[in-house]
Amino acid sequence: MSKKILLSGIQPSGKAHIGNYFGLMKRMVEMQDEYQCYFFIADYHALNTIQDKDVLRQNIIDIVLDYCAIGFDPKKSIIFKQSDVSAHTELAWIFDTITTMPYLQRAHAYKAAEDAGREITVGVFNYPMLMAADILLYDTEVVPTGQDQKQHVEYARDTAEKFNRVYKSDVFVLPESKIIEELAVVPGIDGRKMSKSYGNTIPLFAEDYEIEKAVMSIVTDSSGERPENVYAIHALIKPKAELDALYEEHKGKYKVLKEALAQDMKDFIRPMRERRKKLADDTDFVLDILKEGGERAKQKAEKKMEEVREVIGVKLY
Ligand code: ADP
Ligand code: TRP
Repeated sequence: MSKKILLSGIQPSGKAHIGNYFGLMKRMVEMQDEYQCYFFIADYHALNTIQDKDVLRQNIIDIVLDYCAIGFDPKKSIIFKQSDVSAHTELAWIFDTITTMPYLQRAHAYKAAEDAGREITVGVFNYPMLMAADILLYDTEVVPTGQDQKQHVEYARDTAEKFNRVYKSDVFVLPESKIIEELAVVPGIDGRKMSKSYGNTIPLFAEDYEIEKAVMSIVTDSSGERPENVYAIHALIKPKAELDALYEEHKGKYKVLKEALAQDMKDFIRPMRERRKKLADDTDFVLDILKEGGERAKQKAEKKMEEVREVIGVKLY
């Protein structure tokens, strides 16, 4: 029996942190055997926020290194960048022509930008249609995401339905979002959600001194005996029974507990960091992975586009 198709994308927007790792990256690696995985770098989406050639280029390479270092296998799965498969933007245009403005105005991301009084580019407004194309080109059945992306997957599903209805066809498979719920949001060192945009992260490939610095500056409140923010991060990497025994033994001793977390975090990160450094010595290796993945993705996407062109009436030969 063929495997279900799973697809996920990530914007090349900066250094990965342990929130990204436990929220998405680790899951992607684990799901590689069960699903046929497509994983792509959403570099055209990122143009909405990054307009610096060197930064974008480096961020793209970094993601490939990150994923390979944590065990993502480009032989089993397909890793590529969006800009290598022009069908993504082509299909987004076709979706634009069956999508109304009021429908896109209901998108959370658009509303948030509007409420914040930000100037909104057409690219941001149209984001859900490019994302729908990303998903629908590959007959994706499952899209693993955080809660924040659920609405976007619903947009993709609605768009697939609408296209199939308008063109009386069954070109598109309806995708489901697989919300990764078992895992609570990973808190940052200030107790808010860990996020690049808050500057409260523990980078996934941090050097030992960076880990120490980040862990020692975790905000603790002095009301209880257990430093909750320290405990929550520690729980990601230590089995509960050991963790509870440790926090019981050192009740109220925040410094000791932070030192224990720093040590465990260093042991956890070191092997991945070392693997990543080795891979980073060979940039050609990264480029080859992307090129090959791009070719494989293009083949699949192009087949779908041929079906699309046929049913909309532009395929004449
Ligand atoms: P950031 O907020 O740092 O910019 P992104 O929005 O790029 O992170 O997130 C990339 C992926 O990592 C998404 O799937 C998101 O759900 C997941 N993720 C990000 N931060 C966290 C967190 N603190 N806890 C759990 N998952 C997270
Ligand atoms: N919107 C996602 C994010 O900001 C990235 C993304 C783009 C994506 N296209 C996708 C995720 C398709 C899943 C499927 O994190």
